[in-house]
Amino acid sequence: MIVDLPDLAAMAAFGRRIAGKVRPGDVVALTGDLGTGKTTLARAIIAASGHEGEVPSPTFTILETYDHLDLPLVHADFYRLESPAEVEELGLDDYRDGAVLLAEWPDHAGGFAHEADCLSIALERAENGRRAIVEGGQGWLGRMP
Ligand SMILES: Nc1ncnc2c1ncn2[C@@H]1O[C@H](COP(=O)(O)OP(=O)(O)O)[C@@H](O)[C@H]1O
Ligand SMILES: [Mg+2]
Repeated sequence: MIVDLPDLAAMAAFGRRIAGKVRPGDVVALTGDLGTGKTTLARAIIAASGHEGEVPSPTFTILETYDHLDLPLVHADFYRLESPAEVEELGLDDYRDGAVLLAEWPDHAGGFAHEADCLSIALERAENGRRAIVEGGQGWLGRMP
């Protein structure tokens, strides 16, 4: 599935659609080069899930948690991981319990596409805006955003 995202308003709307579909245990895997909008889309999902206020980029902290929401979220940026083994040291599984994981640079954490509940979103530049190539695992059948 291809979604055109010509501007930030389209990004916000797509974030709302995703926020309306996610369930505990899901992963939203955000791939794409630097500057393609991974953090922008994660912020849109977090805001649409009811978070008010700032959404710091997890570039340095790797994980930011939003567990005050009805559906808790974990926003991760795995860019700085040197090996997928470091994911265990972060205690990611504990953070993910009952939550939705929004993952930037998922490949640096070993990737999540093997999980049935993984929604893979590949962002790329398209003219002045962006385009998303969206693929869902078995768990996304019938609820694609
Ligand atoms: N759909 C879009 N159209 C135009 N600009 C966008 C879009 N999505 C994001 N941007 C802009 O791209 C820049 C980089 O976005 P960011 O989310 O930080 O990228 P990434 O996390 O992939 O490195 C930001 O200035 C943001 O405003
Ligand atoms: Mg980013």
